[in-house]
Amino acid sequence: MSVIRKTTLTQYLIEQRRRFPDADGGFNALVLDVARACKSIACAVAQGELAGLHGNHAAGGTEAESVNVQGETQKKLDVISNDLFIEMTEWGGNLAGMASEEMPDPYEIPEAYPKGKYLLIFDPLDGSSNIDVNVSIGSIFSILRRDAAADSPLVAEDFFQPGERQVAAGYALYGPTTMLMLSVGRGVVGFTLDPVLGEFILTHDHVQVPEETNEFAINASNSRFWEPPVKRYISECLQGETGPRGKNFNMRWIASMVAEAHRILMRGGVFMYPRDKKDPSKPGRLRLLYEANPIGFLMEQAGGRVSTGEVPLLSLQPSSLHQRIGVVMGSREEVERIERYHKEPASDEQISPLFGRRGLFRD
Ligand code: F6P
Ligand code: MN
Repeated sequence: MSVIRKTTLTQYLIEQRRRFPDADGGFNALVLDVARACKSIACAVAQGELAGLHGNHAAGGTEAESVNVQGETQKKLDVISNDLFIEMTEWGGNLAGMASEEMPDPYEIPEAYPKGKYLLIFDPLDGSSNIDVNVSIGSIFSILRRDAAADSPLVAEDFFQPGERQVAAGYALYGPTTMLMLSVGRGVVGFTLDPVLGEFILTHDHVQVPEETNEFAINASNSRFWEPPVKRYISECLQGETGPRGKNFNMRWIASMVAEAHRILMRGGVFMYPRDKKDPSKPGRLRLLYEANPIGFLMEQAGGRVSTGEVPLLSLQPSSLHQRIGVVMGSREEVERIERYHKEPASDEQISPLFGRRGLFRD
């Protein structure tokens, strides 16, 4: 009987570590703890309403909804996932601190545990509007090295590093299969959770985003708030074969960034949640540190591109933990085109016919 050799996440990490003879194994241990958190979240997500896990989190056992620092209603699974990330990673001695979408301030490692040199930033459960309707959701994580002295107190500024300085980033996708997509700065690899073994098995080596695409994702209900370069780009896509692009486009909107990013890593495409004029106090919808940076890092590691529309996203110097940012990412040629449109002022003809006076999406 022939045995099919499978590479587990542990084996992959050990093989990667051989390139760094001085590495002490702490980084690998941290990634494995993160993966264990994702497996635990996958189990909770799969139990769903069987374990009474759907619906909103009620603060302190009351009936009142709890809201996070973003003013968003917290789901039960948001809170459980956040707790699982903390529980599975705080003990290992490799972290100097953590930050999460669900916590207003940085999380300090309890006195009981040793501290390490890495910072972990995460969105424990992204796309939470999809939890109760059983559509794909995911967890996003980013690992940074802390610059400050080991004995100095943890501050939010420790986390303010441009995305290009990430040591590793990844996400777990809880879809028809659970997958973990990871980059340790040398391309992107994908693992599928074998539910019998409980192990992440390497199934996607050298993930590459195709350079060209004819698929885009954007929340079109915001179209009246878009800026002219975005209106122009979408208008041209929608005009299809007979428009300036000379080809038909397809559109998708899942409302789970992890699922959209995964589709783009698998078959290309462009995803946009651009800065818009909907709420002038919010420069975009997505958060820089735990959504845009880690997903953007994977995109670029897979040969794609991520931008704010105006500047390369991974070069931005963050200024707050929950900072929002406009995001354009995916197939390189499309993102570059959108960046070009941001540099050239769009004429009325370029924005019409869809957004012009008699157009479909009139202002
Ligand atoms: O947390 C952000 C997020 O849930 C993303 O996963 C998703 O892309 C987006 O928000 C969905 O936004 P909207 O509700 O506008 O469709
Ligand atoms: Mn999110």
